[in-house]
Amino acid sequence: MRKPIIAGNWKMNKTKAEAVSFLQDVKNSVPAADKVDSVVCSPDLFLDALVQEAEGTDVHIAAQNMHFEDNGAFTGETSPAALKDLGVTFVVLGHSERRDMFGETDESVNKKVKAALNHGLTPIVCVGETLDERESDKTNDVVTKQVNGALEGLTEDQVKGIVVAYEPVWAIGTGKTATSEQANDTCSVIRAALANTFSAETADQVRIQYGGSVKPANIQELLGQSDIDGALVGGASLEADSFLKLAEAGD
Ligand code: G3H
Repeated sequence: MRKPIIAGNWKMNKTKAEAVSFLQDVKNSVPAADKVDSVVCSPDLFLDALVQEAEGTDVHIAAQNMHFEDNGAFTGETSPAALKDLGVTFVVLGHSERRDMFGETDESVNKKVKAALNHGLTPIVCVGETLDERESDKTNDVVTKQVNGALEGLTEDQVKGIVVAYEPVWAIGTGKTATSEQANDTCSVIRAALANTFSAETADQVRIQYGGSVKPANIQELLGQSDIDGALVGGASLEADSFLKLAEAGD
């Protein structure tokens, strides 16, 4: 059995006071960590305060990106070593917004995945097709290439510990959720790619989230699918009440 993982990706939202207040509202109400991983993906600025606020609770704190080097002349970037030192446990890598707007590639995602694992951070590796790619029947090829690119050179043990987030670009922030069947079909393609590149046993252990306009009203049906093990949620994760409903759906 794969443990559900429900992650709220705040993107570039909230002030520090709002971030801390959210954590105070949810931290004692999320499901037990042995049943569900409840993850808050925050802007770097608030990570320190959030890790301290979450201490001793069942909430995990995640970054939304990082550099692959430990240190150096990379103005404005954050290192995996610094995230680990703060007590961050997960990191979102290769989100489509970073691929689209900030030049992220399968190669840079691969370097970041390796760096995260070397520092004991769990990567949430995002993949997903654009509307054009779906309409021209390229979805399976696109996600397979992204998964293989991101995980190239990893050992089976390393792969077992990562999380993949399938997020069709056309469903992000648009209110258009993939149908649960569409979402599950592509998550199955991702699992098949993992089985093909690594092994069926490894593929069976990797948790695959769906992301794209997930909300309390549709999460249950998505989580009911055979290959969907969680959700990566943007807009509907910003309010404490809504995040709690999403996390509870994993229980
Ligand atoms: O990382 C989260 C996704 O981009 C989904 O965002 O739930 O606002 O569609 P959304």
